[in-house]
Amino acid sequence: MNLFELSTRKEYNTACKNAAENPEIFWDDIASHYHWQKKGFKTLDWDFKEPKINWFQGGKLNITENCLDRHLKINGETIALIWEPNNPEESEIRMTYNELHIAVCKFSNVLKSQGINKGDRVAIYMPMIPELTVGVLACARIGAIHSVVFAGFSSQALAERINDSTCCAVLTSDGMYRGSKNLAVKTTVDEALTSCPSIKTVVVVKRDNSDIQMMANRDIWYHEAELNVSDYCPAEPMDSEDMLFILYTSGSTGKPKGIVHTCGGYMVYVGYSFKNVFQYRKGDIYWCTADVGWITGHSYIIYGPLLNCATTLIFEGIPTWPNAGRFWEICDKYSVNQFYTAPTAIRSLMALGNKWVESASLKTLKVIGSVGEPINKEAWDWYEKLVGRSNCPIVDTWWQTETGGIMISGLGDINEQRATFAGLPLPGIHPVILDVNGIEISDDGIEGHLCIKFPWPSMLRTIYGDNQRCKHVYFSNYDGYYFTGDGAKREDGMFRIVGRVDDVLNVSGHRFGTAEIENAINSSTLVTESAVVGYPHPVKGQGIYAFISLETGNHSEKDVNISVISAVVESIGHIAKPDIIQIAQGLPKTRSGKIMRRILRKIAEGNTEDMGDTSTLLDPSVIDSLIQGKK
Ligand code: PRX
Repeated sequence: MNLFELSTRKEYNTACKNAAENPEIFWDDIASHYHWQKKGFKTLDWDFKEPKINWFQGGKLNITENCLDRHLKINGETIALIWEPNNPEESEIRMTYNELHIAVCKFSNVLKSQGINKGDRVAIYMPMIPELTVGVLACARIGAIHSVVFAGFSSQALAERINDSTCCAVLTSDGMYRGSKNLAVKTTVDEALTSCPSIKTVVVVKRDNSDIQMMANRDIWYHEAELNVSDYCPAEPMDSEDMLFILYTSGSTGKPKGIVHTCGGYMVYVGYSFKNVFQYRKGDIYWCTADVGWITGHSYIIYGPLLNCATTLIFEGIPTWPNAGRFWEICDKYSVNQFYTAPTAIRSLMALGNKWVESASLKTLKVIGSVGEPINKEAWDWYEKLVGRSNCPIVDTWWQTETGGIMISGLGDINEQRATFAGLPLPGIHPVILDVNGIEISDDGIEGHLCIKFPWPSMLRTIYGDNQRCKHVYFSNYDGYYFTGDGAKREDGMFRIVGRVDDVLNVSGHRFGTAEIENAINSSTLVTESAVVGYPHPVKGQGIYAFISLETGNHSEKDVNISVISAVVESIGHIAKPDIIQIAQGLPKTRSGKIMRRILRKIAEGNTEDMGDTSTLLDPSVIDSLIQGKK
């Protein structure tokens, strides 16, 4: 039986059984569907205590040979990538596998000509243009470690990420288009680089012809450099456990974490999960609306689809420009078969009325997916009826930057689906729900902490430069388990993700640590202290509610808001702006000085009838004044 391509419930059951009984034989079988320069000698070697996780050790491969070269002989003229520009009046780009291969080779040679080598870290800060995908693959081809930073982050956030992993180069563009806006990109990079001594090279792709500064001996134009290089570049042989990329994500504490993924295991799992979750079959047109700056873009815009010789659509723009029908027009224009988006996009389009989606055909859609946050029942129903026309399974895919690939999800229509449930784990994935004492909960309907009890090939290997932190955050809460940070419960074996149980917010599918936003707010000269919590938001899922204490002096509310928001925009970016700012006379603290967030959460949610135990508060009277000041 071919367990790489699951088409029935029976095959799914067999795969689960095989993976549980003998994971090494199962994953070896899955790995044999890829091209290895040399096969690994040890499938799995692991210890969650250290943590140490090795898959396919001793194996040699290059992921780009699997994404590109191995398809060329038979499928060289298949379309690999369709690029739909921000402005529908501008022409789209279609690149065949042959063309993408050449583009990646040229980009690789440009990187090499700049002295960039295997193991070097390369930051990529670029809008959603084809060169972003090409740049990512070029790094992988020469064995450089890419660190993509979402182009909505501020210069300070970019600098922090560049410095954490001492990148030697940045790949960027002059400017970018986003809806009706034309935004600077290179200028932001220039600002960041005033504090990044490790950067030797900046490769600039021309996108909007904006007037930018090029620094001599550091900055080069890509369109000039590519004229001088060959269109073939051999793929660097990589060990299975060599780093493929770093991707920064937020945790409970202030500093973002550089999540490390390695070559072999990531490739094996991401290609496998893509094929089965989306039931991708040859000739299908697949579209994921995420940005490559997030893990969804890495795994399911670039690597997963290309590993399967799929056609992947990349969209530069936003769902509401020039009008709220843009997503559906694109689906019809390219006859999209699999469509993958986030609940926040669904809710924002829902709010703009049904006419946009009703006037589209959408008849080619076969599977529609959701990712990034819990999807509420209203959004699920709307998505199923209006987009899926009650004819497409919804795959609600639960996973994380750290997991590398989709962990719990429907597989097309193979398994039963239930609104708001992510569903069953993929074969080889062993999620469990633990109670506060670390005991596995076997009963249905009881909420606990979602953990994973056995390694899977695409799991994070470490936090860049800080394995102790990796151990502390993920492997020390519950002995012998990977702790996800999410709460979940189960019904008939199906998992429902309830949301984060730590101090991480999920705002429009973007992850922020409360401490990270507080640090940003505290950099405002007007603020002495702040506390940030999430509250239910009808479109974003969670909104950001900031309670702040001010320095003494007379400050108008308007001045305070401007100062706080610009502090956040400068430190992190527009995406982390608080939705609500409340000036507080004092924050609710225990006698030992700890802020009781539980109380602030209740106030932000407007749920103040029962505040629970407040006896440990230093000054219980702050509660009333906070309730009175609620926005
Ligand atoms: O809380 C979960 C939520 O997003 C978190 C992971 O965020 P990030 O690393 O940015 O990756 C997002 C894209 C994979 C998780 O800890 N999350 C992700 N998918 C779902 C989800 N919550 C509920 N349902 C989902 N399908």
